[in-house]
Amino acid sequence: MIREFKPRDFKKILQIEKTSFRDPWSKWEFLYHCRHSNFLVYEVDGEVVGYIISNSNGHISNIAVDPEYRRNKIGTKLVQEIVGKTKNALVEVRKSNKVAQEFYKSLRFREMYFIPRYYGNEDALVMALSNFDKNNKKSNYKHRKD
Ligand SMILES: CC(C)(COP(=O)(O)OP(=O)(O)OC[C@H]1O[C@@H](n2cnc3c(N)ncnc32)[C@H](O)[C@@H]1OP(=O)(O)O)[C@@H](O)C(=O)NCCC(=O)NCCS
Repeated sequence: MIREFKPRDFKKILQIEKTSFRDPWSKWEFLYHCRHSNFLVYEVDGEVVGYIISNSNGHISNIAVDPEYRRNKIGTKLVQEIVGKTKNALVEVRKSNKVAQEFYKSLRFREMYFIPRYYGNEDALVMALSNFDKNNKKSNYKHRKD
């Protein structure tokens, strides 16, 4: 089941975040990033097993699924929930994060352009669905680091 984030979800979200990223967001980073964003969680038997944060334009700033629940289309459903509302989606992905790139390709995201050293020592690949195009580089929403 997909529902809106509640503060009591933080404990599990921070656990998933730590197991999913080499530079995980702190609770305060989550609070900062979700101020003007949609923050959804995926729940299985009352337990949060995934989450997504995006803004109203479909700019995804964070998505992760508990490793034990991956490859069950939970990530797919979270992105589809966003795209169902925004019709567009855009995300920056570490050049080295091939799993995430395969994931977005499976959702028909296209590779758009690279942002050199977006992560300090690594480039970001921008991937997008629909109306975001190669000339639309307005996305300056500071966001996820992976
Ligand atoms: C990326 C992530 C959110 C995907 O979540 P998920 O629920 O496992 O993804 P899904 O089950 O919806 O996968 C959909 C498709 O994506 C592709 N995919 C997903 N994981 C993959 C993997 N490890 N290797 C290759 N392709 C993969 C496959 O095509 C998959 O379809 P299939 O299982 O029928 O082959 C999850 O791997 C994750 O949390 N990764 C760590 C955090 C991260 O990198 N987030 C993205 C930051 S931009």
